[in-house]
Amino acid sequence: MSMITINARAGNAEKQHHDTVVLPLLDGRNLTPSGIQLQSATNNGLTAYLRKFDTSGAFGETLTIYKLEGTNCERIVLLGVGDEKKLTLAKLRNLAGKITRQLQKGGTRSVALCLTELNVRGASTSDKARAIAEGIWLSLYTFDKYKSEAKEPARPLKSATLLIESRRELGAVGRAIDVARAASSGVCFARDLGNEPGNICTPAFLGEQAAALADDKLQVEVFGQQEIEELGLTALLAVNQGSAHDARFIVLRYNGGQEGEAPIALVGKGLTFDSGGISIKPAAQMDEMKFDMCGSAAVLGIFKAAKELALPRNLLGVIASTENMSGAAAYKPGDIITAYNGTTIEVQNTDAEGRIILADALAYAAEQNPAQIIDFATLTGACVIALGGQASGLLGNDDKLTRALKKSGDASGDRAWPLPMYDEYQEQIKSNIADIKNIGGREAGTITAACFLSRFVGKRPWAHLDIAGTAWNMKGSDTATKGATGAGVRLVLDYLLRSAS
Ligand code: BES
Ligand code: MN
Ligand code: ZN
Repeated sequence: MSMITINARAGNAEKQHHDTVVLPLLDGRNLTPSGIQLQSATNNGLTAYLRKFDTSGAFGETLTIYKLEGTNCERIVLLGVGDEKKLTLAKLRNLAGKITRQLQKGGTRSVALCLTELNVRGASTSDKARAIAEGIWLSLYTFDKYKSEAKEPARPLKSATLLIESRRELGAVGRAIDVARAASSGVCFARDLGNEPGNICTPAFLGEQAAALADDKLQVEVFGQQEIEELGLTALLAVNQGSAHDARFIVLRYNGGQEGEAPIALVGKGLTFDSGGISIKPAAQMDEMKFDMCGSAAVLGIFKAAKELALPRNLLGVIASTENMSGAAAYKPGDIITAYNGTTIEVQNTDAEGRIILADALAYAAEQNPAQIIDFATLTGACVIALGGQASGLLGNDDKLTRALKKSGDASGDRAWPLPMYDEYQEQIKSNIADIKNIGGREAGTITAACFLSRFVGKRPWAHLDIAGTAWNMKGSDTATKGATGAGVRLVLDYLLRSAS
């Protein structure tokens, strides 16, 4: 998937030779500085149109003006922003996505946008540029490789220029665009992996995709069935028993930081299709369970972005990948499994398989002595009920890490919201016959799943992102087409960038 060119420039709107120049229009038909400047350069050329503008600048509304005298562009698009005081980086990102799609549909090939001059509380020009660039790149993502007739626009958008007020900020804005490019590239990669169907995106396929990321700074090991047996990843093997496809265990080591610096471990659930196994799921929307590997896709997306940014940190990636099927050898309710770290697990429901494969992945990661562990998993339907698609569930054993991730979620727009992990919840996963059981009852399902995971991370600072509600979106949004969203990539990339500086 190729991405269009985005750059920054200091200059006046009326001088731009682009197909389209986008100017913001605020509530009450007020212009922002570049619009005011253009008004004086064009002898108040916009005034007649502003009178006719009957939407009064409501958020997302547009008015197009062709060949305005005194300007060099084909058209000016006045873009309604609404009440500037209510603007956030997330809204700015969505607005950029919305207008980009509309312009591409209308045949614009090159556009200049005067959007960084909008006031967003607490945001610098660079923050705004990053959000706008992400909005543009993410909104243009499509997944149509399986459509016989290409849906590609005949004249796709080729470039976007962010017009900024001061030349002095060009350097910082350029770096912000670099971050946005790497983040978007990581997100789009994660989306591609998520959108692949289960018959293509098998554990072996995920292993190949991970291996293809390897370079001199990124070492990738892909363990097959026999090596998984030798390693003793017995919980992963148990879930794999019912599947015709062999499992894979993927370990990535990115060395961008100091030699000897303990890495941050990123652990992902790579369940390439979750039928529920013997505790089979209902048929409705079962197709969506191809997205059950989106945790691993987020991990791979972050490694891709880290590489592209030359992130100055060491990272360890650990992905456990299998299908959850009900073949003749499938694991069964009542089975007892001994995980990699020796903990015994009573299986009460084979559909609570994510926590089982993560048990081995987390224990393996913890053994590598990382500074912190962050895991990504489409773990519980309960999280979809609790938070919907607006935020990932955020749990863990370390308040400082949780707070930092919450902050990065807010800053990146890839949001996460904390849920408590009081000791009392651990009671719910006590087993009569083994150390723990794999379900904790109907109450607090997202929390008891995290309690299960907590048994495998030791004492290390650990955070868990339940992306069950955020990893895919079948309605689509201004910045994500229907399907996988790449949730988790921008959030944790933001966290890694902050912790590196
Ligand atoms: N992959 C699912 C969680 C899921 C469900 C994600 C719906 C997104 C949408 C997971 O493996 C699962 O099946 N969890 C069960 C656990 C239950 C049996 C305790 C669930 O949430 O229903
Ligand atoms: Mn399941
Ligand atoms: Zn699952």
